[in-house]
Amino acid sequence: MVAPLFQVTTWDKTAVDRAPYIFMSTLAAIGDSPPATYIFQSSDLSLVYAEPAAADGSVGSTTANVRTQKLNDETYLTYWRGPNVGGNSSRGCGFYNQQYELVYDVNPVGLAPEVVLDIHECQVTQDNTVLISIYAARPIDARPVGGPADGLLIDSLFQEIDPVTNELLFTWAAIDHFVITDSHVPYEVITTSGATGWDWSHLNSVEKTADGNYLVSFRHLSTVSLHNGTTGATIWALGGKANQFADLSGGNATNFAWQHDARFRSADLRLLSLFDNQGDNNQIGCTGVSCSRGLLLDLDFEAVTARVEREYRYPIGLVSDAMGSYGVLDNGNVLVGWGLNPAITEYHSDTGECVFDVQFAPWPANENDFTNANYRVFKGDWMAYPAWPPAAVVEDGVLYVSWNGATEVSHWAIYTAADGELSDSLQLDLVAPKDGFETSIAVKKKTRYVQAKALNRDRQAIPGGSSAVIEL
Ligand SMILES: *[C@@H]1O[C@H](CO)[C@@H](O)[C@H](O)[C@H]1NC(C)=O
Ligand SMILES: *[C@@H]1O[C@H](CO)[C@@H](O)[C@H](O)[C@H]1NC(C)=O
Ligand SMILES: *[C@@H]1O[C@H](CO)[C@@H](O)[C@H](O)[C@H]1NC(C)=O
Repeated sequence: MVAPLFQVTTWDKTAVDRAPYIFMSTLAAIGDSPPATYIFQSSDLSLVYAEPAAADGSVGSTTANVRTQKLNDETYLTYWRGPNVGGNSSRGCGFYNQQYELVYDVNPVGLAPEVVLDIHECQVTQDNTVLISIYAARPIDARPVGGPADGLLIDSLFQEIDPVTNELLFTWAAIDHFVITDSHVPYEVITTSGATGWDWSHLNSVEKTADGNYLVSFRHLSTVSLHNGTTGATIWALGGKANQFADLSGGNATNFAWQHDARFRSADLRLLSLFDNQGDNNQIGCTGVSCSRGLLLDLDFEAVTARVEREYRYPIGLVSDAMGSYGVLDNGNVLVGWGLNPAITEYHSDTGECVFDVQFAPWPANENDFTNANYRVFKGDWMAYPAWPPAAVVEDGVLYVSWNGATEVSHWAIYTAADGELSDSLQLDLVAPKDGFETSIAVKKKTRYVQAKALNRDRQAIPGGSSAVIEL
């Protein structure tokens, strides 16, 4: 396993947000790095955790939406696991504890067995419930969009589920609230996430507001809408054919297309952010090389208007046809993940200037090349004590020690026993600072046994942090 190397284009260390970790995943192999779930240390971009994909293509060979979320006052690492993005099945949104043990596995409830969770969403609400996105096939008269009378639709659903009890609290289906002529994709039957049909609306984010309504993003409608938390009815729709808002920015506030990750950014719901892909296929708004943008909108619900508050474009311009994210960090900076384009960019909260820009793979070959993609990127805190011990090997007189996923290691204490001594007579030999993912330490001649123990910032031994005793 080789971790991806970052190419750093911009890094103003005084201006970046201080959150210690970057969370992401790769959907395909990059060079010698298999697709994997990743945590990197923000301060030096060294690897903290990698969970390489299962090479046989089984469930878990692709992960997406890796981040921490708080549920019932506990922080979990959460992410979607599937065999592949467009594949036949998936297996849940996993909630992992500080030992990386799977605690909850959220999947659709009460639907047909072949109906599975799709890659797009797994969002904890303030009610300690989880919102997930689901594809489900159903027949449709597709003649209004040039399809057959016996057409097949992949509808987009979301469910709200209590992950602890698995109780289903709410189910919502796009077809009940939009008409098929709202779609921006031509009628075409495909197979994705185990469903076969026309992926007409493509729900890709959902969150719950403080007063219990749902904000939903539909890539294939190019619409973001708010829905009543009791009835599911549309309260308002922004963008796309269903748009109700007058555009105070000459069209630039409502012409977003194929967008992702729509979130409210103020308690009064006036500020709304999204990742506006635009994209080459089925062009709606922008044309050119710099079309994708992080977009912050100011909505006025009395006047029913939308205005561009902020736009974040890639420094050298980019078009990302799919995926992508827009996050707001603790210090107010904005973190944009560019989806199909393997770049992560942070913008200053006041100036809007790019203060951090890294690339973790070559640019994609074309607009449909998913191989170097990362679905969403997050920055935040995390504390983990893996259930497995540190790994240590000695080669050519050098001890190499690492503890995949451990966040609290500051130093390694090296215990040794010399030739002629027993393995239970190990004595503390030296303490060395941890150096990135894997620390290498020269082993003294005449050493017969060696063991590494992880120490925290207070130089205390971390429970579970002792490697096996190696006999040289
Ligand atoms: C997906 O399902 C189809 C139909 O059941 C099957 O022919 C195909 O082999 C499956 N593909 C994978 C990757 O499992
Ligand atoms: C949601 O629907 C319920 C029931 O019809 C209604 O009482 C409530 O006012 C609606 N909420 C919003 C925000 O429209
Ligand atoms: C809309 O965006 C385009 C592209 O950035 C820009 O050239 C144009 O001036 C904007 N229009 C308004 C009214 O802001």
